Order: sequence, then C-alpha cells, then structure tokens
Amino acid sequence: MRKNIVAGNWKMNKTLQEGVALVNDLKSVLTAKPNCDVIIGTPFIHLATVSEMVKGTVIQVAAENCADKESGAYTGEVSAAMVKSTGAEYCILGHSERREYYHETPEILKAKVDLALANGLKVIFCIGESLAEREANKQNEVVKAELEGSVFHLSAEDFGKVVIAYEPIWAIGTGKTATADQAEEIHAYIRSVIKAKYGEKVAEDTSILYGGSCKGSNAPELFAKPDIDGGLIGGASLKAPDFKAIIDAF
Ligand code: 13P
Repeated sequence: MRKNIVAGNWKMNKTLQEGVALVNDLKSVLTAKPNCDVIIGTPFIHLATVSEMVKGTVIQVAAENCADKESGAYTGEVSAAMVKSTGAEYCILGHSERREYYHETPEILKAKVDLALANGLKVIFCIGESLAEREANKQNEVVKAELEGSVFHLSAEDFGKVVIAYEPIWAIGTGKTATADQAEEIHAYIRSVIKAKYGEKVAEDTSILYGGSCKGSNAPELFAKPDIDGGLIGGASLKAPDFKAIIDAF
C-alpha cells in the first residue's frame, strides 16, 4: 500500500541556527504519532545537524538537490553519496525552480535520479506545467514527458523508491492553489501513465503528492481525494504550527 506523506521543502530559507530552531519547534508540536510520513527538505548545510536532531522521531530528512556527477572536480557541488552520508534518506529532484533557474534538463535530472538511487536515497521527483501550458490544455502531455524524460527508464524495483510530486508552476508561492478536483484529475492521469508503464501494482503503490500553495485550510479537501497522497509544502513548511496543520489533515 502506498504511503501518505507530508514533505516540507524549505528552499533557500533559514540559517543553520534558524533551521535548528524550526526542527526543535516541530519536535515539540509533533508529539502524537501522525497518520502520514513526515519529511523535511532542507538546504545541504543543515542536513547533518538536522538528521542527528530527528533521530528517534517521526521526522525524516531530504536534500533539495544533488549533483549529476559522482565525485571529482566539480567545485561547489554536493554528491548523492555526500547527501547520504549526512543521514538524509530522500532527495528532492526536478523541482521547477531548478529546471527554470538552473537549467536542469531531463537528461541532467535522469543522471541525478540514477545517482541518488545508486547511493541509497529515495527520490521525490517533481513534475508540473506552467500557466501557459495549462491555458493551452497541455498539462497532461507535459507531466507525461517529464516522467518519460527522467524516471521511466528505471526498473520497477527502482521506481518503487520514487515519490512523485505534482506541482503546477502557477500554484507555487502564488497563493493560487489548484482546486481539489483539478489536482485529482491530473493525479489520476499521472497514476494511469505509471500504470501503463509499470502495471497496476506499481501504480497503486506510488505516492503522488500535490504541491503549490498547500496549507492547513486547503489540505483536508486535497488529501481527501483518492489519488492525492499528501503534499510537498514550501511556504507553510517554514513555521511549525503551519506545517503541523497540514499534517493534521490526515
Ligand atoms: P509553496 O507551498 O510555497 O507554494 O511551494 C510549493 C513548492 O514549490 C514545494 O516544493
């Protein structure tokens, strides 16, 4: 059975000290066992400290990126092996901000996915269309191409270590959430594409998260949909009570 997951993506926010304070806040509000997995995606520099802090709690840790090369002379890059060595268990890849601002192509993302999995990390792979693509009714072909470009080369076993996050670019940080029906429609489509590629069992076992202005007020309606298995949360993951309100939607 697939997991329900609420994952935070801190993006480029929080100094190390501020991140430590947020993790302490999260630990103090997450006293009861939640009805979903809880993951926090932090900047690289926080990973080792935060992984240590969350040991024995329900919180798991994700990096927000990793390099597309194994090791060597790539100044400033952080490899999947380095991420794994911090204690992090997940790596977020394919976020639209990285595709757009850092020109990450499907081929680069494919290399990152392979390296993350080869180093024992699970992957949260982000897909989603722009506003122009949605207005042209191209959202289905966009998300299908993103899957085919970077994760559909995987074996069924490796695909089982991938969580999909559908994040319509027009809903990220804009306050404009996809309606629960809009999100459900494309989540069901994404699951059908996974089914066509890997079969019913893998499709049923894949967690598909929604991301884009998800908050405590809209999470219950989104998470009630049969093909929405949780959320990838930006802004509302930066304050413990806001993040907990989303977790409480399960
Ligand atoms: P917001 O929740 O701030 O819209 O960000 C969503 C996101 O990009 C998570 O990866």
